[in-house]
Amino acid sequence: MAEKKNLFSGIQPSGDFTIGNYYGAIKNWVKIQYDYNCYFCIVDLHALTVPQDAAALRRRTMECYAMLIASGLSLEETTLFVQSHVPAHSELMWLLNCFTYMGELSRMTQYKDKSVKQGENVRAALFDYPVLMAADILLYQTHLVPVGDDQKQHIELTRDIATRFNHLYSPTFEIPEGYYPKTGARIMSLQEPTSKMSKSDTNENAFISLKDAPDTIVRKLKRAVTDSEAAVHYDEKNKPGISNLIQIYASACDMDIENAQREVEGLSYADFKLRVAEAIIENLKPIQAEYARLMSDKAVLEEYMKVGADKAERTAVKTLRKVQKKVGLVPRGR
Ligand code: AMP
Ligand code: TRP
Repeated sequence: MAEKKNLFSGIQPSGDFTIGNYYGAIKNWVKIQYDYNCYFCIVDLHALTVPQDAAALRRRTMECYAMLIASGLSLEETTLFVQSHVPAHSELMWLLNCFTYMGELSRMTQYKDKSVKQGENVRAALFDYPVLMAADILLYQTHLVPVGDDQKQHIELTRDIATRFNHLYSPTFEIPEGYYPKTGARIMSLQEPTSKMSKSDTNENAFISLKDAPDTIVRKLKRAVTDSEAAVHYDEKNKPGISNLIQIYASACDMDIENAQREVEGLSYADFKLRVAEAIIENLKPIQAEYARLMSDKAVLEEYMKVGADKAERTAVKTLRKVQKKVGLVPRGR
């Protein structure tokens, strides 16, 4: 049998995971975890590129880790770890900084968008964010990187840095490719259905968190923005609110849009919203039960994190040592 390809993805602990994260990314990770040699990383250092409350960041990192396990990621099948637990990420980032140009980083559209929101004091780390991401990916000789479209430019930069290094020295890094699964749903905000549902939205009614209780889910759906037509059918352009709810329903029931629409056609908006709420609640029930169990014993969770970090580090350090040697750093004696 051919060896499994390496797959790496990162997710920021910048808020509670939403059903957008779940239907758009995590659910797919759970499906593919047996097909690839998977690394999934909670990127806490990336979260620090914008202001964070220390206690909240610490709590969310634990919670996000537990939520990924509760969602179905296996600790045996995958390497699930916290970025800051593996210092090789920061170390390789510094070295890659020496092979990345200011011009390249200035062209990153995510930097342009995010820096505007930060006002006067934009952190240097926000500018450098893609280089840390490149380090994440390149440490594991990654073939595939599942991410949303908004990360395409960062993957391209990672490939450019890796190719440059390989040419300057000798083949060191696998050149990774973005992996954009066709089935990955894009879930939109419940309040502003033309923009993506985001875990860092300040309006709590805009997203459904994986931690939301059933009555909260029902309430948020009742308040979801629709239109005045009173016909449940999919039309992304003219009916973004209803189309988003059909997409959520389809994702929750593992159906395509056509079949999902057929099931709910003819319902009143009120009944349709309840149907969607029930489907989400059903999906989240086992996840929330497992999440509560995991969160009830922090010591066990910390032990899992340690095992994940040790496993990741063994691979990461091999790549880091090669790079250190090639650029001319003197090895530390044993
Ligand atoms: P983020 O929440 O931006 O850190 O994204 C983490 C992962 O979840 C990425 O793979 C995103 O593409 C995915 N994701 C985030 N929000 C959504 C959404 N509303 N719909 C689909 N996928 C999403
Ligand atoms: N920048 C990614 C995001 O915001 C998160 C991330 C960090 C990542 N490092 C990564 C994704 C490495 C894939 C691979 O979604």
